[in-house]
Amino acid sequence: MLDRFPFRPKEEPIIDMMLSICNIKILNIKKPSMKAPSDRQIRATQLRAQINRYDYYYYVLDTPEIPDAEYDRLFQELQALETADPKLITPDSPTRRVGGKPLEAFASVRHRLPMLSIRTETDTGPDGARAFDAQVRRELELSEDAAPVEYACELKFDGLAINLRYENGLLVQATTRGDGETGEDVTQNIRTIKSVPLRLRGVAPEVLEVRGEAYMSRSDFERYNARQRAASLPTLVNPRNGAAGSIRQLDPTLAAKRPLSFFVYGLGEVQGWALPATHSAVLDALAIFGLPVSVERAVSLGADGLSAFHDAIAARRDLLPFAIDGVVYKVNRLDWQRHLGFRTREPRWAVAHKFPAQEELTVVEAIEVQVGRTGAITPVARLKPVFVGGVTVTNATLHNADEVARKDVRVGDTVIVRRAGDVIPEVVSVVLDRRPADTLPFVMPKTCPVCGSHIVRPEEEAVARCIGGLYCRAQRKEAIRHFASRRAMDIEGLGDKLVEQLIDQEYVQGPADLYALDTATLTGLERMGAKSAANLIDALERSKTTTLARFLYALGIREVGEATAMTLATHFGTLEALIAADADALRQAPDVGPVVAAAIRAFFQEPHNQQVIGRLQATGVRWPDVARQPVTTASLAGKTFVLTGALDSLTRDQAADRLRVLGAKVSGSVSKRTDYVVAGHEAGSKLDKAQALGVTVLDEAGLLALLDQLKAEDSQ
Ligand code: IVH
Repeated sequence: MLDRFPFRPKEEPIIDMMLSICNIKILNIKKPSMKAPSDRQIRATQLRAQINRYDYYYYVLDTPEIPDAEYDRLFQELQALETADPKLITPDSPTRRVGGKPLEAFASVRHRLPMLSIRTETDTGPDGARAFDAQVRRELELSEDAAPVEYACELKFDGLAINLRYENGLLVQATTRGDGETGEDVTQNIRTIKSVPLRLRGVAPEVLEVRGEAYMSRSDFERYNARQRAASLPTLVNPRNGAAGSIRQLDPTLAAKRPLSFFVYGLGEVQGWALPATHSAVLDALAIFGLPVSVERAVSLGADGLSAFHDAIAARRDLLPFAIDGVVYKVNRLDWQRHLGFRTREPRWAVAHKFPAQEELTVVEAIEVQVGRTGAITPVARLKPVFVGGVTVTNATLHNADEVARKDVRVGDTVIVRRAGDVIPEVVSVVLDRRPADTLPFVMPKTCPVCGSHIVRPEEEAVARCIGGLYCRAQRKEAIRHFASRRAMDIEGLGDKLVEQLIDQEYVQGPADLYALDTATLTGLERMGAKSAANLIDALERSKTTTLARFLYALGIREVGEATAMTLATHFGTLEALIAADADALRQAPDVGPVVAAAIRAFFQEPHNQQVIGRLQATGVRWPDVARQPVTTASLAGKTFVLTGALDSLTRDQAADRLRVLGAKVSGSVSKRTDYVVAGHEAGSKLDKAQALGVTVLDEAGLLALLDQLKAEDSQ
């Protein structure tokens, strides 16, 4: 079909310019046939060109051009034309991405050029970059005062290596690496990847083999697993396994259900293209052919340049929409690459500099349950210590009984533990073939291991709870810890160990008992000298002067976190008004729905809680009344702030209080919805994320100026 009716897409002048810069020979332009195309042929060709263009913008450039519904209409129109007249079908038609029948097995394909791997630098620290640069300079026999070597720096994608072969611009074959000499023909499945062009843009070389990585993005991985979970089907362990499973799926319609993406990072066989001089220019040219090339790459100079790239990417690792396990450095000049050549199976001109692993294997030594402040029972795996994600991990949460059952984690199992960024470590999955013979499934205890009360799990809830309430020591301890915590009553020096002793020795039953403690009692406790006891008494005294918001948060009312406590304080102004409010009045406060309103009502109606509040006020706990102020008219209403790093003139908590008084929401994590990030000294990943997302960043001076300005406006 194409022979009789060639279609030359309209080329932007820039492409022609780049092709001439990249020295691309124009070959194989077929002469148009004399026979006039039918209307249907013309329409099908138009549709294919349009859809391919939209796919390119959507999947390669990440900038959708039209709404999904319009895309679907065009796609369906093309499908209908092709079904009515199959002669209209071309091999690069977007409808052919999923067309093949299930295969019996993958055919073996001998690579025209071997698919080699690269050496991994074992030192995950900054010396890794230095060692590679030193080796390159030695092998190129560069003198000490020679200019720094130029490198192409890229991400090390964590997926499956694939060779794509294009002949005259048309995708003809996709193969796995296999043993490097022979791979498997996975063309059908690779065709389902929307970012892989079925036809190259512009005028392509006669033969162009490109090499790259098929991978599963984090969002596709999550979406796939959520769907599987909902259908009680097996989930994928990690995106890499997802990619491998999808590519090795014999039925391409099933492969298409596990969507993959692709990045190109190098070349295989090439005919009819005089290559540019550097690797980075090759990648630029491949991008112009419409191939997906990651924008996360750089050309850098010398060991310092490599280290800077490594560190910048390491800081953003968890923010990327796909998994990487390190970075790759390549000598940029292709003539130097040829000169350096290969050592056995690895090029001397490239190295992979890995990041510390985020997943490791270890053994579950016990599964225990923890009782939280609200009685929530969380199963926790006690692990043989393992170094993962940069720290030694000994515990990993198993979330709840359903999670344990789904993953079927048992004592004695070897498991994959994951720790990424600051997220708490979790058990990803069990390595079943390492399971000892005599293991038993985990059973949730029927009674609380701390107080012996029943553990109850309401039918529609995931969480089981000890119903012991404040009778349960574990819950009492957690309630006191929470009451004393920095963002609640801020009782300095009342640490976990001390709370344990005070509850275990029954000096403290509830929060009001804290204010009855005296020096004699305190000095009788372990590791408590006269000085620390006096300091604690002072701290208790200081904590009595607080704010209504802190006090409400400290009470530990279900559903009332810091932000809601602040809203309630500003909305109602006094504790009395809040206690008097019925469900309707409560729901007038911003962000208070029926569940929160019910929890607040239930708390204040409970006589025991009324007593606790009365006793606390009797010991002198007090706060200034908040001038009643509808939050919506406050100057920062609707704005979300994130504070990170250390400030000089005030603590982060003080800054947060001042922002909240003006109606701002203060959140712990940066997202697209964050309006401002206030960055003090040594601000870390939150600042990076803010910059990556383009969120406005204020320094301390900027924050103070903003607060002053709003105060001035307020008093006008
Ligand atoms: S270059 C001859 N660049 O890492 C050099 N490999 O061997 C060929 N990988 O499985 C490899 N990202 O698939 C190169 N930017 C990148 C890469 C990369 C990931 C994979 C590759 C191979 C392994 C290293």
